[in-house]
Amino acid sequence: MNIGVIVYSETGNTLSVASKIKEGLASLNHQVELIELKNVSPNKTQPKLELIPNIDTHDGLVLGSFVEGFQLSRVFKLFLEEVSSLENKKIVCFVTQFFPFRWMGAKQTLKKMKNMCELKGATPYCAGVVQWSRKSSRKKQISTLVDLIHHYFEV
Ligand SMILES: Cc1cc2nc3c(=O)[nH]c(=O)nc-3n(C[C@H](O)[C@H](O)[C@H](O)COP(=O)(O)O)c2cc1C
Repeated sequence: MNIGVIVYSETGNTLSVASKIKEGLASLNHQVELIELKNVSPNKTQPKLELIPNIDTHDGLVLGSFVEGFQLSRVFKLFLEEVSSLENKKIVCFVTQFFPFRWMGAKQTLKKMKNMCELKGATPYCAGVVQWSRKSSRKKQISTLVDLIHHYFEV
């Protein structure tokens, strides 16, 4: 499968998870492209994307964002608003957050990503959350997430 891993990351956490997802999918013989969204606006409250990635060639997408103020990050929200159509694509969503509880932003964020994907014609699989402050289990959280995503693209 041709898979695009589209991620928005400010301090590198979400990007590091996305890289592991990419490596694993590539080792399963998928063709994988990691695409980092870039905000070119100096005003954080009114982001502007450097470009909208071209997703025409991708049959599958992994969408990764961090939680920002208990919500989907503004930049990722903008991407989901501006992307043309997600019809006929197999989609997985994941998020990273700082706090150790899903109700502290992750749950709302995944729900928002799901709703926005549905508006673009796709039904995504919400694979999960990595809670950065749970240091002792972080590695395990990441490997569980990576395995779930790999499995999803294998079936
Ligand atoms: C402006 C801002 C708001 C944030 N709001 C939340 C939040 O509501 N809940 C939470 O758990 N983490 C929150 N965080 C923490 C990030 O979601 C977390 O550190 C994430 O892993 C950062 O991802 P990144 O390194 O890919 O940018 C916030 C971070 C920033 C910068």
